[in-house]
Amino acid sequence: MPTNSNFPLIRMRRMRRDPFSRAMMRENVITAGDLIYPVFILDGANRREPVLTMPGVERVSVDLLMKVAEECVNLGIPVLSLFPNIDPSLKTNDGVEATNPEGLIPRAVRELKKHFPELGIMTDVALDPYTSHGQDGTVDDKGSILNDETTEMLVRQALTQAECGVDIVGPSDMMDGRIGAIREALENKGLIHTRIMAYSAKYASAFYGPFRDAVGSAAALGKADKNTYQMDPANTDEALREVALDIAEGADMVMVKPGMPYLDIVRRVKDEFKVPTFAYQVSGEYAMLKAAAQNGWLDHDKVMMESMMAFKRAGADGVLTYFALDIARKLKTQ
Ligand code: PBG
Repeated sequence: MPTNSNFPLIRMRRMRRDPFSRAMMRENVITAGDLIYPVFILDGANRREPVLTMPGVERVSVDLLMKVAEECVNLGIPVLSLFPNIDPSLKTNDGVEATNPEGLIPRAVRELKKHFPELGIMTDVALDPYTSHGQDGTVDDKGSILNDETTEMLVRQALTQAECGVDIVGPSDMMDGRIGAIREALENKGLIHTRIMAYSAKYASAFYGPFRDAVGSAAALGKADKNTYQMDPANTDEALREVALDIAEGADMVMVKPGMPYLDIVRRVKDEFKVPTFAYQVSGEYAMLKAAAQNGWLDHDKVMMESMMAFKRAGADGVLTYFALDIARKLKTQ
């Protein structure tokens, strides 16, 4: 590392002086190809509902989803990720609606694949949008989340998704052993091309609050937490163990979540494993930046782009973010 002790021979500001030399030494760039755009969907036709805790984010019906997909394709966003908000009457303790081939997600995926076969589709593998209690798995009579029973249901959910054309299944549930179980089931069915994006380092975070409003699991979850399966925010070595296990079990890509408060984890994972590594800029991060921008306290576009650059600098190969459309639009006009 050169040091600045040779001043005035070395003047760091020389290279920062003009836009051309700043461009020459820029280490990271943001492209639309780095983005994954999450969309909340609901039943019905021509329906859209704002998510109040996430300004600018809506739940849309499948017909309106096609317009969103079209814009993603036009802007070069490679992947769209779907999250369902289902009718409460369909929710049960075991979340079995997650395996219904005629459910909301399979219907949306078939429609997307019909109109935009080239657009990558990712779906969440977890039961919380489908359970009456808002947990990601089946709950026993003592209130514990059952690991192996839940994994069986997750395998069925992942197969249902893969069979209707999903390109990437994203287990975000944090049950032990589920990546291996899902991979084995996919292989057995001949679904050898389905990629697995493992939410390997997923923390028990308070930054998920607005998302739980969006999928409609917040009320059911109440004051309960997910501390017995999601990770303790105090830990980093544990994240590396989780990632190692998921890679060994057959994950193609790994995810760190939340994003900005966990960039140290992104960097450690990327340095240690050198596998495709993604970060999820979660709902609470989005809500914070939006709220500050709405108040005029922060410059919306500047903080949005800077936060994206922070992910790239930390080593992320891509970012799942509610800002994806805004970022891609901005890149196009820049
Ligand atoms: C559910 C899931 C959650 C998020 C994505 N998938 C919430 C949770 O674990 O409670 C959060 C995403 C966000 O906050 O944007 N398995």
